[in-house]
Amino acid sequence: MVKIGDIDVGEFPLLLAPMEDVSDPPFRALCKEQGADVVYTEFISSEGLIRDAAKSVMKLDIYEKERPVGIQIFGAVLESMLRSVEIVEASGPDIIDINFGCPVKKVVSKGAGAGILKDIDLMVSLTEAMVKHTKLPVTVKTRLGWDHDSIKIVEVAERLQDVGIKAISIHGRTRAQMYKGEANWAPISEVKNNPRMHIPVFGNGDVNSPEKAVEMRDKFGLDGAMIGRASIGYPWFFKEVKHYFKTGERCAPPTMAERVEAARRHLRMAIDWKGEKLGVFETRRHYTNYFKGIPNFKEYRMKMVTSDDSADVYAAFDEVLEKFGDHQFV
Ligand SMILES: Cc1cc2nc3c(=O)[nH]c(=O)nc-3n(C[C@H](O)[C@H](O)[C@H](O)COP(=O)(O)O)c2cc1C
Repeated sequence: MVKIGDIDVGEFPLLLAPMEDVSDPPFRALCKEQGADVVYTEFISSEGLIRDAAKSVMKLDIYEKERPVGIQIFGAVLESMLRSVEIVEASGPDIIDINFGCPVKKVVSKGAGAGILKDIDLMVSLTEAMVKHTKLPVTVKTRLGWDHDSIKIVEVAERLQDVGIKAISIHGRTRAQMYKGEANWAPISEVKNNPRMHIPVFGNGDVNSPEKAVEMRDKFGLDGAMIGRASIGYPWFFKEVKHYFKTGERCAPPTMAERVEAARRHLRMAIDWKGEKLGVFETRRHYTNYFKGIPNFKEYRMKMVTSDDSADVYAAFDEVLEKFGDHQFV
């Protein structure tokens, strides 16, 4: 059984990756229902939190039904990170996660996210201070290194463990790679095989089929898989992987009725949480995947992604169910 601190997260847990503008409460709820064992919020700026910026604060919202849930924060300034730990703690997550992997320029240029991979001593000292500042388990999500010539993840993971983190998730790419090429899981496996490591090591990057999850477990010997893009608009991915673990076979994909129902609930929860305008707008990115592979679907997708009124989007869902209800997904 894998544990993050005292939290039992099951055998080879599947973790929903933190994803900006994606891993919000409605989406996390859907993934949880479909078998995600741990869910993470999208990253939250420590500077935004201490300024009480509304957008950052709203991202702290969590619901009982999604536990265990980790709130992810990023930053590079000690005082802001410590103050953020206090703010995050007050919203009652099970885990605090530190983002040391975000590759985007606006984050990296401030020394945060993957930017800190250029200063491992700072990464370790910041982590140590945060661990000491909270009773909650602290986890880290990071990448292999800054670039191909600076992959020191075995040493980095060990040092982070030594200052008290309770699990590490590693995306098998460097910052220089951004999202290009293929994720390399071999260095993550090296971290796991380090005899000094005793905390869970979760692999991340390109787990987009049940077979890949099996490979991560059996060939690379990791403790769990963190899943990002494969779940966007497809929360069933968690269930499919678990079914495959159990039976060695793929289960049938969700039917059109299930997809429409999920899209409808997603939209409803999003509107309940952030209001009509934002709810309608921010759920749009999921529809392409909910309805992937349906021929001649463009007209309907356009309705879903251009309507500002939820009534029109719900009507489009009804139309889709009526017209494509018999579509066989493969
Ligand atoms: C839209 C999007 C937003 C992301 N936002 C975050 C984030 O807020 N925090 C983070 O640690 N990683 C973020 N990531 C990276 C993912 O957590 C994950 O590491 C990456 O997508 C690789 O995993 P995958 O191949 O399963 O998608 C984001 C990725 C995507 C596609």
